[in-house]
Amino acid sequence: MSGTLYGTGLGPGDPELMTLKAARLISGADVVAYPALAGAESFARSIAAAHLKDGAVELRLDVPMTVARGPAQAAYDAGAVEISGVLEQGTDVVFLCEGDPLFYGSFMYIQARLSGRFTVEVVPGVNSISASVAAAGPPLVARNEVLTVIPGPLAADDMRARIEGADAVAIMKVGRHLGKIRDVLDGLGLVDRATYVERATLAEQVVLPLADAPADAPYFSMILVTKGRDQWL
Ligand SMILES: C[S@@+](CC[C@H](N)C(=O)[O-])C[C@H]1O[C@@H](n2cnc3c(N)ncnc32)[C@H](O)[C@@H]1O
Repeated sequence: MSGTLYGTGLGPGDPELMTLKAARLISGADVVAYPALAGAESFARSIAAAHLKDGAVELRLDVPMTVARGPAQAAYDAGAVEISGVLEQGTDVVFLCEGDPLFYGSFMYIQARLSGRFTVEVVPGVNSISASVAAAGPPLVARNEVLTVIPGPLAADDMRARIEGADAVAIMKVGRHLGKIRDVLDGLGLVDRATYVERATLAEQVVLPLADAPADAPYFSMILVTKGRDQWL
């Protein structure tokens, strides 16, 4: 009998936002796996740290963040081989994933490689949009409004068109794209409707009107835009 692969969502950073199910699986796991940026502490591991069992084997996947997909794909290939070796021996593996595992989550790359051969169970988590909205305050969408989720690396023209067609917008993966995003929103007259949220739910959380946001944004930041829905409330 092979082991089961669990893809656990850990929420946006505050360990109290982890589900009871994820905490139970992690605290019982003999083997956990998690992604990390090369050379850095794993954010996913830091969220789960208090639940890790003494002596648990940790499989760390060093995933380079490069524009080219090849290096990251190679890291997931290697990680999948390592995880499959454990599963083949009949041991479960609990994969730690920040936020929700299947919402821009790293777990999907492991799931895609292993789901044909092993039983895979996904435990959903609180995603970073929900966390950022809770921190920022105004509700994001109401009634029949359309929410558009935009990755920061999108080209400015594409981003502008998608924002124009949306009622509310969550722009993720802000980081080095902050200047471009600011310019697009400025051109649309939406800077005053935009909120900048950095590291939501963590002690270092920052929430600011976009106009007051710092010049440099970290990767774990988001911009929320509501276009004026006060008539529903
Ligand atoms: C690869 S995606 C991971 C999304 C995650 N799986 C989720 O469910 O939210 C990374 C992006 O999520 C957003 N993000 C994740 N955690 C965040 C947090 N605590 N505060 C603000 N944004 C966050 C940032 O935009 C970041 O660039």
